[in-house]
Amino acid sequence: MQDIKSVIIGTGSYLPGTPVSNDKLAETVDTSHEWIVERTGIHQRYFAKKGQGTSDLATKAAQEALENANLQPNDIDLIIVATASPDNTFPACATRVQHKLGNTKGLAFDVAAVCAGYLLGLNVADSFLRLGKAKRALVIGAETISNLLDMEDRTTCVLFGDGAGAVVLEATEAKDNPQNRGLIGVDLESDGRYFDILHADGGPSSTGSVGKLRMTGQEVFKHAVTKLAKSAKTTLKKYKVSPDELDWLIPHQANARIIEGMRRKLDMDESKVIVTVAQHANTSAASIPLALHEAVKSGKVKEGDLILHEAIGGGLVWGSALLRF
Ligand code: ACO
Repeated sequence: MQDIKSVIIGTGSYLPGTPVSNDKLAETVDTSHEWIVERTGIHQRYFAKKGQGTSDLATKAAQEALENANLQPNDIDLIIVATASPDNTFPACATRVQHKLGNTKGLAFDVAAVCAGYLLGLNVADSFLRLGKAKRALVIGAETISNLLDMEDRTTCVLFGDGAGAVVLEATEAKDNPQNRGLIGVDLESDGRYFDILHADGGPSSTGSVGKLRMTGQEVFKHAVTKLAKSAKTTLKKYKVSPDELDWLIPHQANARIIEGMRRKLDMDESKVIVTVAQHANTSAASIPLALHEAVKSGKVKEGDLILHEAIGGGLVWGSALLRF
């Protein structure tokens, strides 16, 4: 197990439809471009079209990641979808993605940790790969969170958007891994006492309906900066990495102010932080793989770069991940 690392060999992403600007949103919501940009850094978001499910977005991101990894769907034997907005209550969104991709082998399942879901997916996939239970995994963060938005609640509906991001991980033995690439470690925690400050007010065993996203923004903000900084420092200390050794901080893209707070706590240079929230708002579980793919596509992130991820979401669930890309 010590000799095997989970290496990212392909990335992909998908944003549905056309961008919806803050001004466009302000035509129907009592808000303004200035308020949204000042408080969040968000300029636009994407909303899935009618009939477009989370599995459709996830499949497109996965197809791009497979193409970039030069693989066929059946080269994959594990598919994990991190989502809080699956097509159906059951079965798992991942099984629909499996079918849409044309994959007929292995195991597909969802993980639920809302905005921290991608990090949980990475952690679970890494365990499968390093235990020899799978050779190649797709980890996908995908959301049509717009289905959970109360468009009458301006304190939440301006913050979120739909999208998907995906990575292909391959179990790689040390002898084939001279750069020592791969996932180094993940730190995750949860505390259910904070259920109320960020949740959907519905579900099969409570209301029998899907519910809408509810959030006490200032409380979430407060927890976000302190808990994320603590997790990031724990991970860096555990693996004996100092912040200035990092090539990139690729955080959950919730809010430019939370990202800036984290950057300051880690004392990292602005040029080393990937920020894409302006273009697609908070896409929950999709945001980290979306930002990673953008950074790879633009040529910023290269093989061998040392990356720190961090995310916090409803639960609360939060954590960080360190990897050599
Ligand atoms: N447009 C215009 N005005 C608004 C809007 C809006 N969309 N929303 C709220 N306001 C008004 C409020 O009504 C209030 O008006 P009042 O002073 O007359 O009462 C005023 O703006 C200030 O409201 P606050 O809630 O105090 O605004 P705040 O500065 O805290 O910013 C925000 C709100 C952006 C939500 C902030 O608390 C925040 O960033 N929280 C973090 C939450 C977050 O990013 N969550 C994402 C999900 S969790 C995750 O992924 C980490």
